[in-house]
Amino acid sequence: MKKQLRLDKYLADMGVGTRSEVKVIIKKKRVSVNGQIALKDNVKIDIDNDDVLVDGKKIAYVEYEYFMLNKPAGVVSATTDDINKTVVDLIEDKTKDIFPVGRLDKDTEGLLLLTNDGELAHNLLSPRKHIDKKYYAIINGLVDIEHIEQFKKGLNINDEYTTKEAILEIISTDENEGKSEIYVTIVEGKYHQVKRMFKAICMEVTYLKRVSMGEICLDETLSLGEYRRLTEKEISILKNYNKR
Ligand code: URA
Repeated sequence: MKKQLRLDKYLADMGVGTRSEVKVIIKKKRVSVNGQIALKDNVKIDIDNDDVLVDGKKIAYVEYEYFMLNKPAGVVSATTDDINKTVVDLIEDKTKDIFPVGRLDKDTEGLLLLTNDGELAHNLLSPRKHIDKKYYAIINGLVDIEHIEQFKKGLNINDEYTTKEAILEIISTDENEGKSEIYVTIVEGKYHQVKRMFKAICMEVTYLKRVSMGEICLDETLSLGEYRRLTEKEISILKNYNKR
C-alpha cells in the first residue's frame, strides 16, 4: 500500500526542522518535489517514490531506525526513568521514538537492539519464534558436565516454571578461585532468567554480557556505551525472523 505524508510532516520527521520551521523553509521555495518547487506545505508525498530535495539535497524518508548498542552496566533498559540513565538516552542521533527490544538487567552488559519497529520487536521477543540469546557469564562456582545436562533438561526457576532447553558451554574453570567462565544460550527471556538458572544450581552470576541474538552478534568494535546503526543485511536477517 502506498504510504503518503504531508510534506511538512515528512521533512519534520526527517529532522529538517520543527513543523513550523519547515513551513518557513517551504515558503522560501527551498524545497522541491520530483523536480518542481513545492508551493504548499500540505502537498502529499509518496514516501517510497517521490523525490524530495531541500536546497538541492535529497531527503530520503526513513520510517524505521535500528540500532545495536553495547549496553554498559548502570543504565536501565527503558525509554524513560526518573533516576537512571536509560539505553535510549545513549542513542544520540536517533530521529524516532525508539525503544529497546526486550530488557537487559541494569548490571548486564552487551548486545541490545533498539528500534521504533514494533512488529519486528514483538516477533523477536515472541517465545514462539525461539530466537537464541547467547550470554557470556562469570560464575561463582565450578560448572561441570552434569550442569550442561541439567541446563539441557530445563531448570525449575520457581515453583511452576521449568525453563526450556538451554545450551551451556564451559569456557574455563578455576579451581583455586572457585569460578567458571561459560556461555549459555536460551530461547526465552524470563525475568532474570540466566541468574535464576544458576541460582537453581546454587551458583551466582557475577558478570553477564549478551553476545548475540539469533544471527546478530555484538559488534566487538563497539566499546561499552557505543552504538551503531544495523546494516541492511542485519535488518533483513531480523525481518526474515518475522516470516518464520
Ligand atoms: N538473564 C538475566 O538474568 N539477566 C539479563 O539481563 C538477561 C538474561
